[in-house]
Amino acid sequence: MHQRNMPLYNRLITHISNKPISFHVPGHKNGELLEEENPFKEFAQFDVTELTGLDDLHDSQGAIKDAQHLLTELYNSRKSYFLVNGSTVGNLAMILATCHEDDTVLVQRNCHKSILNGLMLAKVNPIFFSPEMNKSLSIPAGPNPELIRHAIGEYPHAKVLILTYPDYYGQAYHIKEIIDIAHEHNMIVLVDEAHGAHFQLGDPFPASSLELGADIVVHSAHKTLPAMTMGSFLHINSEKISEQKVEFYLNVLQSSSPSYPIMASLDYARYYLSNFTKEDIAFFIQERHLFIKQLQEGSGLAVITTDDPLKLIVRHESLTGFELQSQFEKAGIFSELADLYQVLLILPLVKQDTRFPFSEAIERIRLLSLESRKTSDEINIFTEIKNPVDLMELSYTYKEMLNMPYEWVYINHSVGRIAAKMIIPYPPGIPLLLPGEKVTEEHLQHLQALIQGGARFQGETEKMAVFIDVHET
Ligand SMILES: Cc1ncc(COP(=O)(O)O)c(C=O)c1O
Repeated sequence: MHQRNMPLYNRLITHISNKPISFHVPGHKNGELLEEENPFKEFAQFDVTELTGLDDLHDSQGAIKDAQHLLTELYNSRKSYFLVNGSTVGNLAMILATCHEDDTVLVQRNCHKSILNGLMLAKVNPIFFSPEMNKSLSIPAGPNPELIRHAIGEYPHAKVLILTYPDYYGQAYHIKEIIDIAHEHNMIVLVDEAHGAHFQLGDPFPASSLELGADIVVHSAHKTLPAMTMGSFLHINSEKISEQKVEFYLNVLQSSSPSYPIMASLDYARYYLSNFTKEDIAFFIQERHLFIKQLQEGSGLAVITTDDPLKLIVRHESLTGFELQSQFEKAGIFSELADLYQVLLILPLVKQDTRFPFSEAIERIRLLSLESRKTSDEINIFTEIKNPVDLMELSYTYKEMLNMPYEWVYINHSVGRIAAKMIIPYPPGIPLLLPGEKVTEEHLQHLQALIQGGARFQGETEKMAVFIDVHET
């Protein structure tokens, strides 16, 4: 079958064009029960279920099987899967399918919370290795291969290495060297490549870890490709991985009623990517170049680029990232995230026949008067994030933590205690503190700076949950 086909997408369209009458789930009955003025009415027609001809994600024999086959071909993997619960479910499944209880697992510290949840569910013993810092952007960068070598030397029985590549900001790193080091020691390499589904395009985008030999790779198609939210891919990339195990966990963890709009959008996203030409890449780069140039003209904004051309970091000399983000929002421009220093924009992967309102965005930004409400002294109090410890073990195992009592203390009384819950600035969803991690003065300073700067958090920030160690009291 050719990459110009969209087996599932077309099957769904054909089904709808036959004007079917629904006596099946979902209860909106092809949207018939939605009022005429409800804007979801038309869309609801696509929200069907496992009807004859529409196949079944959990036992694919027809259109979904063909669509996943095309996906496998495009990414040149051993087997690729559609996911309907985001990279979150892909990360959980890849960990559960490859790690056993009590296994030692090496994990990049600045990983997404879904990786941490996977480690907890698998009840493994994680050893966290820190990334290096990108001092100019004040954010973590990639891990150093030498640190991985050292970690393997310290923990020679570690079986699995879990990497995050690229990061939210589009920073890539020497992942090939790290994958090769791990493979030399017979380790399995799992990569959360949530932000890199488009790396398949090749230059000028960084290489995908699939191409560089990772054993399982997870992509959030919905983050950078034209797929619907929650639409993701999981790719098995080596014979060391048991397909049966991965499929077992995908089956267990995903809904038995997977969304057809999401799956059809994944078929479309694969089609979009596979038919993205060299001329389309040139067009995207040209649009991006013009946008960057115009952003920097006269508005006091500076644009910083990283390895992934789809990501732009925007700074203003007298505004925190959070302030700049809220200024943009006043103009109806919504960014992906902000931190203390900058705002992150994810550009659209436009091709020659698509139009995106870049110039309207520029016009709106030019009408803003970008001024800080804070004095520069206040901004300067934000701490330089120092290099954290290279290798970290948790103070308790996940099995111990499961039944340990905890209490809530004010954050300024938390230093020296062991965190019982994650504290997660969101986005990006990378926990500042992990359950089982000892709270340091530096954690506290960083947390206070984020709170003061206006960061959004998942969970409590005034108080922190810390374990009560019954052996110590
Ligand atoms: C690095 C990384 N991994 C995994 C995820 C989870 O992805 P999803 O939203 O597709 O479940 C995210 C979400 O932001 C992420 O940034």
